[in-house]
Amino acid sequence: MQLTAWVNGHFLPLEQACVHIEDRGFQFADGVYEVIACFSGRFLDLRPHLERLERSCNAIDITMPRTLDELSELVEQAYQRNPFEHAMVYIQVTRGVAPRSHMVQQGMRPTLVITVRELPMPSADTLEHGVRAITMPDIRWKHCEIKSIALLASVIGKQEVSRRGADEGFWLDDMGHLLEGCATNCFAVIDGKLVTHPLDHQVLGGITRDMALRIARANGIDVEVRPWKLSESGLTECMMSSTTNAVMPVTHMDDDIIGDGKPGPVSISLRQLMLDEFQALKQ
Ligand SMILES: Cc1ncc(COP(=O)(O)O)c(C=O)c1O
Repeated sequence: MQLTAWVNGHFLPLEQACVHIEDRGFQFADGVYEVIACFSGRFLDLRPHLERLERSCNAIDITMPRTLDELSELVEQAYQRNPFEHAMVYIQVTRGVAPRSHMVQQGMRPTLVITVRELPMPSADTLEHGVRAITMPDIRWKHCEIKSIALLASVIGKQEVSRRGADEGFWLDDMGHLLEGCATNCFAVIDGKLVTHPLDHQVLGGITRDMALRIARANGIDVEVRPWKLSESGLTECMMSSTTNAVMPVTHMDDDIIGDGKPGPVSISLRQLMLDEFQALKQ
């Protein structure tokens, strides 16, 4: 498929879609982004993703380049031009182009880029055995609630993940609580309850996290939103969530196995309930 991207007012073949070398996204990582999943042409939680984009823009004083309705329409058009069966739409907004200076110019025109790629699907092996994760001290900045394109810490984290033959890395605070992953939120099952860190400056409010908590509550799984540690007695399962993963069981953490080292019953059932919602969305 010839991929088509939206860049600053035009749809162009991906290889011709360019931004200026003095774009502040390129020079300062001065921008924010979203990733949205689309199943058979139906977007999952498009509005909540666009609302989070607006919150991220507001948090760093970037003017939203379009209204939410206009953005929905553009996202839809971008998908129509790249109609994968299962797709992920990437939206990036940067502060725009200006001669390089830390000081922000007034009245800048934000850069808006939208690309579409095929949504990666987990391998049969990952589904059967679950994900291997490692833990790392949190080296990120103090505004992780903003979906910033400044992802250097996560890139470094993922390099360590790859070096250690794992799939994801979870950030630990100074007291050893699990905050979230490089690109996922994380959960544990402790004494039968689904536990996840509260939303604060150390955690991105994942749209999939919200969905997982909503579905868990609706299906009689007790939810506890509090800081948690891997060393807690009663911990039987771990899992992670993101737009590109739904909920995935995490069966290995550093050199230890979680529970019996296989995807556990709560993770399996929560994942299935989420896939059922995706399926319902298609119909
Ligand atoms: C740091 C971080 N936490 C959590 C998530 C999951 O967010 P969502 O469920 O909205 O994809 C992401 C996704 O990119 C992320 O980068």
